[in-house]
Amino acid sequence: MCGIVGYVGEKEAAPLLVEGLKKLEYRGYDSAGMATISEKKVLIEKDVGKIEEVDKKVNFKSMKGKIGLAHSRWATHGDVTKENAHPHTSMKEDISIVHNGIIENFADIKKKVGKEGHTFSSDTDTEAIVHLIAAHHEGNLKEAVLKALNELEGAYALGIISSKEPHTLIAARNESPLIIGVGEGENFIASDVPAILEHTKKIIYLDNGEIGVLTKDNVDIFDLEGNKVEKKIHTIEWTVEKAEKGGFDHFMLKEIFEQPSVISETVEGRISEDSIDLNGKTGFTSEEMKRIKRIIIVACGTSWHAGLVGEFMIEELAKIPVEVEYASEFRYRDPIVEKGTLIIAISQSGETADTLAAIRHAKKKGAKILSIVNVKGSSIARESDIVLYTKAGPEIGVASTKAFTTQLIMLYLMTVEIGHVLGHTNDQQVKNRIRDLRLLPLQIQSMLDERKNVHTLAKKFIEKAHALYLGRGINFPIALEGALKLKEVSYVHAEGYPAAEMKHGPIALIDKNMPVVVIATKDDRTYKKVLSNIQEVKARGGIVIAIASKGDRDIKKCVDYILPVPQNSYILTPLLAVVPLQLFAYYVAVLRKHDPDKPKNLAKSVTVE
Ligand code: G6P
Repeated sequence: MCGIVGYVGEKEAAPLLVEGLKKLEYRGYDSAGMATISEKKVLIEKDVGKIEEVDKKVNFKSMKGKIGLAHSRWATHGDVTKENAHPHTSMKEDISIVHNGIIENFADIKKKVGKEGHTFSSDTDTEAIVHLIAAHHEGNLKEAVLKALNELEGAYALGIISSKEPHTLIAARNESPLIIGVGEGENFIASDVPAILEHTKKIIYLDNGEIGVLTKDNVDIFDLEGNKVEKKIHTIEWTVEKAEKGGFDHFMLKEIFEQPSVISETVEGRISEDSIDLNGKTGFTSEEMKRIKRIIIVACGTSWHAGLVGEFMIEELAKIPVEVEYASEFRYRDPIVEKGTLIIAISQSGETADTLAAIRHAKKKGAKILSIVNVKGSSIARESDIVLYTKAGPEIGVASTKAFTTQLIMLYLMTVEIGHVLGHTNDQQVKNRIRDLRLLPLQIQSMLDERKNVHTLAKKFIEKAHALYLGRGINFPIALEGALKLKEVSYVHAEGYPAAEMKHGPIALIDKNMPVVVIATKDDRTYKKVLSNIQEVKARGGIVIAIASKGDRDIKKCVDYILPVPQNSYILTPLLAVVPLQLFAYYVAVLRKHDPDKPKNLAKSVTVE
């Protein structure tokens, strides 16, 4: 949740660290800080606020030194105060660390080092680590770090520097993400790729229980016993431009606009005119598909909503029973995992702690794990048997948009292919499904071109305190997602509900102050029923905004506002219906003067329980 970036090289560290940190701000933004080493002294600056605010106060770039660490905080232990901001230092101020994660036995460590005379200046669990390293330090930083790590319980990604070894940067990982960027005459550490993408595309993924010892010309990895570990250097495909705002006011808007292109990229190489190929490098073979008797999807947040759409798709087209679980609940249950149960984990970041724990839980029970992940080499991807990568590129906005649509695309490809392999879909139907899919990028683009209508509508609703989102069938999860987007970025209380369930509760809330967003696209299943639900809302004075099929005249008569979406097959309507809802949430947030990229209290990548 916090963001870490570290540098050792020939350049001044501070400017580079500030820029890196800004790219990680989506991970946490209540405080920021930096440590460098200059003239054999550790320099520290930190304070409360977003990186730019802190930078204005402390002027990070004035800090000298060719080695350094920076941190953006998302508080877990201890209030949001200057003292609790990272980096933290040893009493002699010679060792400095930044940390992402939670140390579970910090109270015991505090007690232990406290007895040895170490005094604490913050309420964080992190400070216990730096005192522990200092307590073990007998002249060799790496040895002291190893000894300390062997006593720690919990999750950590750590960056460590010491004025006694001013050319060495140490990285350590257990459960919280940390990568090493390999440069020329310089090396980096970071919580995530965008922070260092400008400088190198060569990445080493640290595994749990590993430490990296970096100098400007060298990177060595060791296990916790101090044995050297050989690691592969991966090359990242993402470009710098993809991690920039590219002329948009916010990442969220840019990412909404990227949807047509990332959908194309996600299907690229996986479809031809009449066939889908998921085997390729992933190993999701026809034999694997035939073995599936039941599917459990585990995910969190927006990815969980993608899972709900997936459930509908898979049961409909591939005829396999599916359950969708919150990963955070699944991990503490005793789920029944029989032979033939496939677990599908869906995660943009591939680092969500609950989803990771859920797949480990299922693995212990003998389940096969397939993951749909956006970030290459992430923990969930590495711990899965089969990985289907979405190609959304870096998603920086905290509220997920383009990652969601690419997850739906991947679920669709998977479903159509399984359905075909299992004989529920014939060759012609596969061809038709691919044709429908190919329509999507242009259809979404056409809605983006009409964004002004959504903006105009958003203006009418900025004063509202609540909203209800209704949908049925495959679009019920889209009602949930629309409501979540509004809550996340504009702080308007919103609830998603199955349209027909409204009469069992939420209908009591409806009056002239309650906007009700109804997904009412034309189909031959629930459309007429949804029209009846709309009538029920209107009869009680509610204001109805309908997400309706383009050209639908009938609906015009019974709703207050329409956001039209192009027509496609029923199974693909979620990909269209979600777009105006994303835009609506974005515009309401901006009009209410909130920063949609950094919603309060939220973090992009939730690497703690
Ligand atoms: C956080 C983010 C959401 C995201 C969820 C799951 O809550 O703010 O946007 O949907 O985590 O993240 P994942 O990376 O596993 O998809």
